[in-house]
Formats: sequence, structure tokens, C-alpha cells
Amino acid sequence: MEVRTGPPEAPVRPALVGRGAEQRAIETLVAGARLGRSGVLVLTGEAGIGKTALLEHAAVAAEGVQVLRATGSEAEREVPFGGLAQLLRPTSADLDRIPAPQAQALGVALALRSGPVVDRLAIGAAVLSLLTRYSEDRPLGVLVDDAHHLDRPSGEALAFACRRLLADPVFVVIASRPDPRGALTTAGLPELAVGGLSPAATGALARADGRRPTARALAELHRVTGGNPLAVLELARDPGRLLFTAPGAPTPVPAALITWFGERAAALGADARTVLLLIATAGADLAVVTRACSALGVDVRALADGERAGLIEVRTDRVDFVHPLVRASVYGIASPAERRALHAVVAGVLPAADADRRAWHRCEATLGLDDVIATELVAVAQRASGRGAHAVSATAYERAARLSTDDGDRARRLLQAAHAAWRAGDGDAAVPLLTRALALDPSSRNRAEALGLHGDIAAHRGAPGEAQGLFAAAADEVAAEDPSRAVILRAEAVSASFFHGDVAAALAAAEGAERLLGRDLTPTAAALGTLASGMARILAGHPGTDRIRAGVDLLTAIADPAAARMRPAWLMFGVLWLRESGAGRALVRTALEESRSRSAVGDVPTLLFTIARDGATTDRWAAAEADYSEAIALARELGQTTVLAISLAGLAWLEARLGRAPECRAHAEEALAVCAVHPVNTARAWAEFALGELALATGDVAGAVERLSGLEVLLTGMGLHDPDLSPAPELAEALLRCGRDDEGRAVAAGHRARAEAKGLPWAAARAARLRGLFCAPGDVDECFAAALDLHARTPDLFEEARTRLLHGARLRRSRRRADARVPLRAALQVFQRLGARPWAELAASELAATGETVPAGDPTDLGRLTPRELQIALLLAEGRTTRETAAALFLSPKTVEYHLRHVYTKLGIASRAELVARIDPAR
Ligand SMILES: Nc1ncnc2c1ncn2[C@@H]1O[C@H](COP(=O)(O)OP(=O)(O)O)[C@@H](O)[C@H]1O
Ligand SMILES: [Mg+2]
Repeated sequence: MEVRTGPPEAPVRPALVGRGAEQRAIETLVAGARLGRSGVLVLTGEAGIGKTALLEHAAVAAEGVQVLRATGSEAEREVPFGGLAQLLRPTSADLDRIPAPQAQALGVALALRSGPVVDRLAIGAAVLSLLTRYSEDRPLGVLVDDAHHLDRPSGEALAFACRRLLADPVFVVIASRPDPRGALTTAGLPELAVGGLSPAATGALARADGRRPTARALAELHRVTGGNPLAVLELARDPGRLLFTAPGAPTPVPAALITWFGERAAALGADARTVLLLIATAGADLAVVTRACSALGVDVRALADGERAGLIEVRTDRVDFVHPLVRASVYGIASPAERRALHAVVAGVLPAADADRRAWHRCEATLGLDDVIATELVAVAQRASGRGAHAVSATAYERAARLSTDDGDRARRLLQAAHAAWRAGDGDAAVPLLTRALALDPSSRNRAEALGLHGDIAAHRGAPGEAQGLFAAAADEVAAEDPSRAVILRAEAVSASFFHGDVAAALAAAEGAERLLGRDLTPTAAALGTLASGMARILAGHPGTDRIRAGVDLLTAIADPAAARMRPAWLMFGVLWLRESGAGRALVRTALEESRSRSAVGDVPTLLFTIARDGATTDRWAAAEADYSEAIALARELGQTTVLAISLAGLAWLEARLGRAPECRAHAEEALAVCAVHPVNTARAWAEFALGELALATGDVAGAVERLSGLEVLLTGMGLHDPDLSPAPELAEALLRCGRDDEGRAVAAGHRARAEAKGLPWAAARAARLRGLFCAPGDVDECFAAALDLHARTPDLFEEARTRLLHGARLRRSRRRADARVPLRAALQVFQRLGARPWAELAASELAATGETVPAGDPTDLGRLTPRELQIALLLAEGRTTRETAAALFLSPKTVEYHLRHVYTKLGIASRAELVARIDPAR
């Protein structure tokens, strides 16, 4: 075995008993890594249950494999990226071999490089790149012990990387106590719960030292310990304790162990006790412990007593407790005053360069308030933020607030803690901090800041209704002194109202923004305010397209949209709302590329969603499917509920058109389930639309009528009168196909009025199609020709083909067979090209009914690829290398190659050139 880092060799331990299944699971993982398959296993179980022992087994099984190791420790859990620094130390030479922005992010996180604040998720992407790069020379094992004590930023970066390991020669074994909030225990990684040993194994362990306990004593031992090996060994060492354990209600084993260890420590001499307490306070660094001893006038040689008592292990430069529970026990026997005194001593002997640790110890040493230490903690928080360790920063700001004497300082620091918590992705922690801040100092400035941040959190986490109110209230607070900020907040309120499906709120927010549009605004504020004003009007069914166009022009005129302070999704809103071909697409694609290249993972889901929605309403369906799927996966991972719901619904809608009924239903139902808890009503409407269209496309016209009428009622109830959101054209078509012509005609008439009032070609084209559907036979050609003229002005090929299909069908029914074939052929061709299978079948059967034989074709050549495979194929076909594709998707190059092999097999091709030919990047 080659161990390239970590603590020196652990002492030789006896063979494990009773862990056959666990050992096999680990050996399978190691064997897989040797064959180039990644594997991850999280071992969970209570203290003393044998997790570390199993990690040692993994290290032994990994003979010939490179091993990286790290161990979380309670004393170090607020050290930003302390865990990663331990783990990755031997890989530092490889840092330059990963994508440069990732290397920079990780370098800053580990304080190896300086630079601007990094995206915390970029660090996870970098860890993945670094581990997989390192494994290119030889298989790699990653062993992480006591992950529940790992600093949170490290845990999250590791979790991000672990979730993406697939086809690299890497295995990961993580040991953790069960931790419902732990970054690695809640990451959805494969978990193996390690339970107590069987009675037989307990017996074998108890007899290991040559002892011969009776059968009754063994039964009692198993009852009391639940098969916890540490407890078994402890009781075997001191069988007398068994007599004192109460029968019946068992004490939780770790708690009992803490008591037993504590008793052992308390029995030592005064110096030994102090030395142990110092180790518990200062951590394992022997130099620091020694200096602290001399500061206290204690003989450091008392360490030997602790060693003899079997509580610590002393090595050349460090001293460790034999088990983390011993630390908890030792710390527990000191009084609070004694602990504070020891922290003060440790702070005093730490080198000045270790400012962070000193500040934390000084904080622990303080009773009451202390502004000097509070300021030191603020500096700790700032350094942590600068390295992307936002969770650490949040804790430091919060502790600084607690120590501050002035309420204003406290409130400001709590606000900063809330910002840091949200940047760390922890909205649950951020919101109560905001509440506390405002309770201390509800000044207008603080209120605006707190409300705005709370709005952001709500908007992302599936509470757009709450968000719209928060944004509006924040805007009211700042309208007088900072109109630009107020306009942007109101624009965000409009956007949130859209997702919430609340027209009245959207209009109110838009009016608020409009009132400020005459003021001297930043270009971004002017653009967003104008766009939002148009959006609200359109939602309400009023004219608003001119404003959207004006807003898009203002946005386009901003020299560097990436530098403008706004959510990049705004770049796409104009395109989505106008449904025209235009400049906006390029802007948002640039923003996505930019986010991908910076590994700004958090921005990616929303950008992908907007691009996917655009692709699904033009001719880039394959790309849209892949983009939606990636947006869903990332949004799920990052807890971005709003974009998750809307992307699920959008994908379901696309799948309805593709004829993928089971997938469509599954995604629509998941969207509806999310919306039942989080009122993202627009997603709900889209999901209903998807199910209605699926019924229509697959010939269940009665089902379609029911679903789509229900949706009309839902939309009317929400006051959403935008004809583009309305399923009236589909409903009218379904009614007609059911033979309920009169009802269909009524629906069509009602819709036409709204669509014509809107005046945009997309809406008008659908309305004109309806006219063609119900007009007198003599007017058919003229009506459909008008519709096609309008379709020609939008990039939505599917809608156009639907119009042609209906035109052809009507001509055929009036026995104009030859005339019918022209639009039917054109429709069939487009449906096939898009992969709209059920619609292609409809067009083909109509054509067949005209007497034309239709070549059977597989319209969805790419349909057999999984979304991930499709995304990889598309990115490669655009000319990226494997490494660039890997970086863009936050995957390893080997994983990209793995998927690509499947793509080649499924498409029956063997080269990139063939791939490009097959994919046609324009799609
Ligand atoms: N299956 C086993 N067979 C023999 N000894 C074991 C076994 N599991 C654990 N031990 C021993 O029990 C003690 C506690 O185990 P450890 O791995 O440190 O627990 P954990 O890491 O879960 O807290 C150690 O001394 C270890 O060597
Ligand atoms: Mg352990």
C-alpha cells in the first residue's frame, strides 16, 4: 500500500470480527476502481461502532492504489477548507493540470493563490477534476474519516465531486456518524449503515485477549453494548463495570462510553488531567500543546500517564486521543470556567500568523461581550468569504454579532451572516438571522437589505408568492434614495409574480417600477424596469410588446451584460416573451458559456431553463431536452425549487410533443407534486398543459378536453389572460375532434379576441389557425394562408406544422385530396425533423387517407440517447474537446468518454465527424 498523505501508519490492529458483508462491499469498490469504475460508500454509525476500523480495512485492501486521506476533527471544523487541504496536499503539483478557472477557485479556497471571491460550487467542480486527474496515473482511493466533523465547505465540495464520479478509477469511502444536516450524509450518496456486532462476533471480540467470559456474561455484554465494539472492548478491559450497568432501560452506548472514559481521565494526576484537557482544547499539534503546558507551568511529560491509561497516542509531532469520544469525555470533565481559561492559554501560544484559530479560541475564552474579539471574528469571516467558505463565514459573523456591544453592529453582522449563509446555499439558516437583525435595528436601510435578501431566498426556493411581496416591500424602503435599486427589486417582483401566476401583483409591481422610470436610473435598472412593465401587461392580457422590445434594446445596449448587476436570466426574458428570432439568444448563450467556464454552477440552472424553453419553442428540441434535464438535475442538487418545478413542467410539455408518454407523465406529476407544496403556479399550469397535449396528441380527445378545460378554469382563476398561456387552441381542436363543434367554435371565438388584441404574430397565428378550423368551406385556404404568413414571422416550427396538419386534414375531409397532400407532406416533414412522433403519425395517417403511401421513418434518431448522452453529444458536436466538454458539464473527461461510447454504439457511428454530421449543431 502506498499512502501519500494522512497521519502516520496506525498501529497494527487485530483482524475485524463479524464484518464480512461490510468488508466485501469495500473490496468490491476497490476492485471496481482498479477496473476504471468509480464507487462511493458512506459508512454511517454511532461512535465506537467500527467505522474507522473499516476504513483501515479499505486502506489495506487498496494495496498498490494511491490513497488520499482526511479526518474531520471537532477542533478544526471552522477552519475553511481544512478538510480539503488535508486530503489534497499530495496533489498540489497537479493543480495546474485542471481547467484554469477551477484551479484558480481551488487555489484561492486552499489559500494557495490569491484572487477575487470564488464560486463555492466551482470548488466542488475543481475537486472532481483534481481527483480524476490524479487518478489518471494510477487508481485512487479517497478515505475520509469522521466526516461529521469536517468543515462544511470541504464536505460540500467533496459531496459535489462524489456525486459525479462514474467512470474514473477512483473509490471513496467516507465514515460519519449519522448526521441529518451533514453535507456528505445528505448528498444522496450510497450509504451503508454499520450496526452492532452479532452476539457471536461480540463474543469473539471479548475473547480476543485470551479472556474466557462465561456465556451469561457474554449475553449480558451484548445486551449492554448492543454489539458496539468500542464498548465491548472497554467492558472487557474492566468487567467490573458490567455489574454497575442497570438492567432494563439501556443507556445509549456512546453516552455510557463518555462517562467511562471521563472516569478514567479524572482518575489521573492533576498534570495529566490538564495535559489531556489542553489536547482536547488545542487539537493534536504537539508543539502547541507543549507551549501551552509551559505557559501553565505543567510538566508535558504527564502525557505518558494518559498514554498508559490508554486514552491517547503520542507520535513525533502530534498527539491523538485513541477515539474521538475520549476527547468529548475529557472536555466534558472540565468546568466551563476551566475551559474558558484553557482556550485563553491556547490562543496565547498560537503563532500570530494563525489569526483565525486565535480568534476562535479567544471567542471561546470570552464570557459576555467584547468588541475587540468581535472585530477579530469579522476579519475571520471576511477571510473565509474571500476563499468561498461561506458557511464558516456565516458562523464567524454570527459569533461576532453575539460579542458586539452595539445593537447597530450586531444587526449589521447578523445581516452579513445571513448573506453568507445564503451564499453557502443555506436558506434555512439565513432567514432567522434576518429576523434577528431586524429585531435589533429595523432602520430603513436594514429593512431594505433584509427584505431583498429574503425575497431572493424565497424566489429560488419555490415561494414566488412570498418573494413578490418581499421584493415589493424592499423596493418601497429604498425608492426615495436609490430608485435604481427599487426598480430592479420591482422587476424581480414582476418575475416572481409570473412564476406565482399572480397578475394583480405583477401589475402593481410594474406600476411601481414605471413611476420611477423617468428618474435618473442605471442602464440595468432602466432595462429591467421596462421589460418588467411589458411582461406584467402581457400577463394581464394588455398590450405590452412595445415595452418588451424597448427593454430588450436597452439591455442589448449595455456594453457588458455580464458585468451589469442583474440575474443573467433577464437577458432571455425578452426573447421568450416575444417569441421572435432576435439578438437576445446570443446574449444568454454567452452568459451560459461564461458561467460554465467559471464553474459558476449556481447560475446555470436558470440559464439552462431559459435556453431550453427557447429551444422547445423553436427547432432545437434535442438541445432543449438535454438542457431541461441538466437544469433539473442541478436545481434538484442545489435546492433551487422554483427552477426545478418550471423545468420539470417544461420538459414534460416537450415530452408530450415527442410522444414520450411515460416520461411526460412522470415529469408532469413530479412538477405537480412540487407545486402542491411550493406554489409555483406557472409550473402547475405548464404541467397541466403538458398532460392535456399528451392526451390530444395520442388520440385521447375526451381526456384532452377534460384536462384543458380544467386548465382554462385554473388560468382564469389566477387572472392570467395572456393568450399565449391559454390552451384554448388545443381545447377547440379537441372539442372538434370529439364532435362538439359548437363548443369548440365558442372557445375559438373567445380566444381569437384576446389573441388579436395582443397583436403578436405567435398568438395571432394560433388564432388564425382556429379561424381556418371553423370557417366556411370556401374560406379555408384564405384563413390558413393568413395563419401561415403569421407563423413565418416566428421561429416556432411546431406550431406552424400543426397549422399545416389541420389545414391538410380539413382539405381531405372536403375531398380535396391532391390539395391536402401539400400541407400534410410539409407538416410530416417538420414533425419528423423535430421528433414529434405522435404528430408525425397523425400527419402520416392523414396522408395515407389521401391515398399517398408514406415512407415509414424513425423520426427520432437521437431519441434513444439519454439526456446526459445527448447533452454530451451536442456539446462535442459544437466543436468542444472532451476536456472542455467535461469542464462545461462539471464531469470528468473519462465520464464524458464513457457516455460518448454509448452514444457511438446507439447511433452506430465511430467518429467525431460522423457525430457532427448526425447531430447537426444547428438543431
Ligand atoms: N469488527 C471489529 N472487530 C474487532 N475490533 C473492532 C471491530 N470494529 C471496531 N473494532 C475496534 O473497536 C474500537 C472502535 O472502533 P472504531 O473503528 O474506532 O469506531 P468508530 O470509528 O465507528 O467510532 C477500535 O478499537 C476498533 O479497533
Ligand atoms: Mg472513528
